[in-house]
Amino acid sequence: MVVEGKTALVTGGSSGIGLAAARMLRDNGARVAITGRSFEKLESVAAELGGDVVIIQADITSAADRARMKTEVERAFGSLDILFANAGVALGTPLASADEATYDTIMDANVKGVFFTVQAVLPLIREGGSIILNTSWLNQVGTPGRAVLSASKAAVRSFARTMSAELIDRRIRVNAVSPGSIETPIHRGRDQTEEEFRAYVERVGAQVPIGRMGRPEEIAAAVLFLASDASSYMLGAEMVIDGGRAEL
Ligand SMILES: NC(=O)c1ccc[n+]([C@@H]2O[C@H](COP(=O)([O-])OP(=O)(O)OC[C@H]3O[C@@H](n4cnc5c(N)ncnc54)[C@H](OP(=O)(O)O)[C@@H]3O)[C@@H](O)[C@H]2O)c1
Repeated sequence: MVVEGKTALVTGGSSGIGLAAARMLRDNGARVAITGRSFEKLESVAAELGGDVVIIQADITSAADRARMKTEVERAFGSLDILFANAGVALGTPLASADEATYDTIMDANVKGVFFTVQAVLPLIREGGSIILNTSWLNQVGTPGRAVLSASKAAVRSFARTMSAELIDRRIRVNAVSPGSIETPIHRGRDQTEEEFRAYVERVGAQVPIGRMGRPEEIAAAVLFLASDASSYMLGAEMVIDGGRAEL
């Protein structure tokens, strides 16, 4: 799974799955740029990862930020071999009470943001490049209160197919990772204590056939595989890494 000397952009690389993927790509020899909205978070993560990681403050829901992100990646690397379009949000939308603002927040980040992230950096992606999208186990099940999040991730699943078909002439492959319930800050409630979060992790883990929540590194390993030529025959596919959550 060689990515030595390749260049990679990881959106939402300041936390959770994106951070684990950035670290794994970097540890396997890639030059990595990470994005996120909070510059503070990016700075502290870059210090932890080591000085060679490029940080770019950019909100994927902003066209101006996406354009600047492209410019900064071009300045740092010239071109890109790997894009992990990972940044996304998770919010509940119970049918009876969800408002339009919440609907828009989810769709703007998870669908529009991902589509236009790919569009923004596409001119930089070289022949033989790999684009990896982050969908979710939710794209294939019905879970109460998750209609909009699940639909947003089903759209991302579909993008992997369509974008692959569209980019095949440039020998750019597009695939998706589909995480199950992974222990990251996305699951933390605003005023939740550490004890409450641990209880949540136990409770959710017990709902997963394998008996626990996943670790971000378990998704990062799939990202590394899809980024490398080891997955050279995979196009438009979805790698499900969910401890059996959606599959069993
Ligand atoms: N954890 C799970 O159980 C799970 C399951 C299935 C799918 N996923 C997907 O995995 C992806 C990463 O989630 P995670 O669990 O790693 O969550 P996380 O730890 O909360 O990380 C989310 C990352 O995305 C960034 N981000 C959020 N909104 C953004 C925006 N508008 N523009 C740019 N960056 C943005 C965040 O940084 P800032 O806040 O500073 O912007 C952060 O770096 C998401 O797409 C999520 O839907 C997660």
